[in-house]
Amino acid sequence: MTSSDAAATPAETPSTTGAKPAARDPWDLPDVSGLVIGVLGGTGDQGRGLAYRFAKAGHKVIIGSRAAERAQAAAEDPQLGGLGVEGAANADCARRSDAVIVAVPWEGHAKTLQALREELAGKLVIDCVNPLGFDKKGAYALKPEEGSAAEQAAALLPDSRVTAAFHHLSAVLLQDPEVAEIDTDVMVLGERRADTDLVQALAARIPGMRGVFAGRLRNAHQVESLVANLISVNRRYTAHAGLRVTDV
Ligand SMILES: NC(=O)c1ccc[n+]([C@@H]2O[C@H](COP(=O)([O-])OP(=O)(O)OC[C@H]3O[C@@H](n4cnc5c(N)ncnc54)[C@H](OP(=O)(O)O)[C@@H]3O)[C@@H](O)[C@H]2O)c1
Repeated sequence: MTSSDAAATPAETPSTTGAKPAARDPWDLPDVSGLVIGVLGGTGDQGRGLAYRFAKAGHKVIIGSRAAERAQAAAEDPQLGGLGVEGAANADCARRSDAVIVAVPWEGHAKTLQALREELAGKLVIDCVNPLGFDKKGAYALKPEEGSAAEQAAALLPDSRVTAAFHHLSAVLLQDPEVAEIDTDVMVLGERRADTDLVQALAARIPGMRGVFAGRLRNAHQVESLVANLISVNRRYTAHAGLRVTDV
């Protein structure tokens, strides 16, 4: 066929031939190396740990706090400051970031997000909050009215691209500079494939870590709750347990 024939003949596409489009390779993920990552509640253990790992992977990272000076002080810690991490008030952190990780305690989740609806509009929001209670018997899962922390975030942030991930990580391992690889899978949930692909790709920026799509936000409750089981594992075996999904 000459190039002029090609121009005259309509291209054969799956829609003209009736063939099914080839399934997309689920591991063909976008390049996220240029994304600026913000961490709300980034002065805490989980937030600092994630900030450290993403900054080490080459990302610009901004940690947020309810008080700008607390975030700045945390960002000046040599472990973070040496990697160019910045600190800002949560609102500023949200405004200046492309992807925003929510790493505040469950008790402050709704209030924090309600106040940032405008700053988080259009942003990729990654919720890692585990609604848990603790008593004499150990950790147990709470039952949020909306179903899960992630669904609460989606309800409060209708203009954001809300996903859920990074629930099962050990903040101790994340912050330990002696730990070169974080040996775990990260379950990634969300409503749009483009967004969950981005989060999977972000997880893969951390050596040892893999992001695995694990469903829509209506299934976030189980993922958040499973942390209560991991805490039980950690206590019995004096461990920092992670998770692997096999056969994928
Ligand atoms: N720790 C882990 O191993 C781990 C692992 C996976 C997921 N997570 C989840 O990550 C989240 C953070 O965990 P964490 O251990 O880092 O918690 P944290 O240290 O207790 O809190 C993180 C930060 O949130 C801010 N904060 C505290 N109370 C708040 C409130 N009422 N409203 C808004 N902000 C508040 C504080 O920062 P400022 O005072 O500077 O604002 C604090 O430094 C939790 O939801 C947890 O379930 C934790």
